[in-house]
Amino acid sequence: MKKTWFKELSVYQIWPRSFADGNGDGVGDLTGVLGKLDYIKSLGVDAIWFSPLYASPQKDYGYDIADYYNINPEYGTMEDFKAVLDGAHSRGMKVIMDLVVNHTSDQHEWFKKSAAKDPKYKDYYIWRPGRGKDGKKFPNNWMSTFPGNAWQWNEERGEYYLHLFAVEQPDLNHDNPAVREEVKNVMRFWLDMGVDGFREDVITYISKREGLPNGFPLPIMRGMEHYSPGPNIHKYLKEYRQVVKNYDAFQLGEAPMMTPKNALKYITEGEDQQLDMMFQFQHMEADCFMTSYLRTKFNLRKLKKVYRNWQHKMYGVAWNTNYLENHDQPRVISRYGSEKFRRESGKALATLYTFMSGTHFVYQGQEIGMLDYPFKGWDDFVDVATFCAKDIMEKTHLFSEKKVFENCAYAARDNARTCMQWSAEENAGFTTGKPWFHVNPNYKQINVAAEESDPDSILNYYRAVIALRKQYKDAAIYGKYVEKLGRSKKIFAYDKLAEDGGVMTVIINMTDGEVAFPSGCVPTGAKQLISNYPGAPGSVMKPYEARVWYTAAPGK
Ligand code: NOJ
Repeated sequence: MKKTWFKELSVYQIWPRSFADGNGDGVGDLTGVLGKLDYIKSLGVDAIWFSPLYASPQKDYGYDIADYYNINPEYGTMEDFKAVLDGAHSRGMKVIMDLVVNHTSDQHEWFKKSAAKDPKYKDYYIWRPGRGKDGKKFPNNWMSTFPGNAWQWNEERGEYYLHLFAVEQPDLNHDNPAVREEVKNVMRFWLDMGVDGFREDVITYISKREGLPNGFPLPIMRGMEHYSPGPNIHKYLKEYRQVVKNYDAFQLGEAPMMTPKNALKYITEGEDQQLDMMFQFQHMEADCFMTSYLRTKFNLRKLKKVYRNWQHKMYGVAWNTNYLENHDQPRVISRYGSEKFRRESGKALATLYTFMSGTHFVYQGQEIGMLDYPFKGWDDFVDVATFCAKDIMEKTHLFSEKKVFENCAYAARDNARTCMQWSAEENAGFTTGKPWFHVNPNYKQINVAAEESDPDSILNYYRAVIALRKQYKDAAIYGKYVEKLGRSKKIFAYDKLAEDGGVMTVIINMTDGEVAFPSGCVPTGAKQLISNYPGAPGSVMKPYEARVWYTAAPGK
């Protein structure tokens, strides 16, 4: 496997609104980030990915962009951004921007001009007349991801526009070459400023099938077979790739519903490659059925199968990403681990994914074992996606009121968006003002300061595994994945084989009970690198016990 700098990165994701407030207005900002750069660096990560920082009315918290060339005033100025960029670079950290070009905000100038039929902008978005006698029937039966229909009537233009996300997020028309030029200009602007890559939001949706035919009558995501992916996706991505090729930067595409087989059409290394790596979602479905709103019991074998598939199919030909949390996913300890065994399961999960091949991601708060929020009522949520999900679940009449609430509370993206817990001080040290969103009431116990002062904390464990991933990179980052005990519903175990014959062995008890230690899985002469329980393994593994060993090749 070709070695490249971006493959070796551990990336820290910042969702700016809730990370650190530097000016006391209750909203996270770039001054806040600047003050935390040393902390981020201390984790051992090599890059920061910023969820959108651009000017935006925040209907989808920044994923609705009103100006690609300016910073959201709540977060600061372009000067503040440059200070953060320089501060990160001078500490040896790369900076990755979110590139959201499937859609803009309805407050973007392009959209306003398009609605007014300004000749230059009239085809920047996907407009269609209404159908039927009154001309008000939707142009087709597609649904948006934030459930509901995908069309919104615009009075000024007298037509519908397509929105695959919220009503305020009209889809750009990438079939229009002028739109593609705009996208390239945005990319060049940020790359010229010195950013090191893009995480490209729902990039696999940007091409829509000509004629926008009706979709298969599914109850959710209806129409997706016509845009996920669409017919011109590879053509457009290749154009965007040409821009990035002129810089030492990389592209990471977010790709809902992606399978390994389809991913290879985008990320196989070589001339035709369009993206360097992708965020797929299959490993985030081990506790749900199709959508996170349909919760099931955590299924370890389902999780293993996904890792087995992606690790094997990408090996030697393409590159994976490894993440367990982000701003769209509830906290992983609350999902795949155990809040009761927070410390043990937090470390077990850190162990599980850090030594897989792929670029590594840690989401703000994950490194201190933050947990889901104890939502009590509908007023506790702010995310548009939750209210849309509520609406659709109610319309199906399949769930009791209580169940609708429980499903939403479990799946809510708001779980990941509570304020970062820095200390046991008021508002968890996030702000000196009134926080814009909830602070989890557990902040007195769970916070960065408490984790810093405890050598045995989840935070210090993250530092250790991130360092080991680099130290043993031939096995951890580039090695070949070999699953062990594949049929076990309790133990997650694998080897990573380095080219020089070295072997990293990972064994984790993924349950809250004791299980027999599979001693046969550890090669004789292996050196234990880390464990979340002190000392050598006993004959039984404790709840969420995780251990990693390394066996050097003979003579090395
Ligand atoms: C994916 C982003 O991660 C999510 O937060 C956003 O709501 C949608 N794309 C729409 O931009």
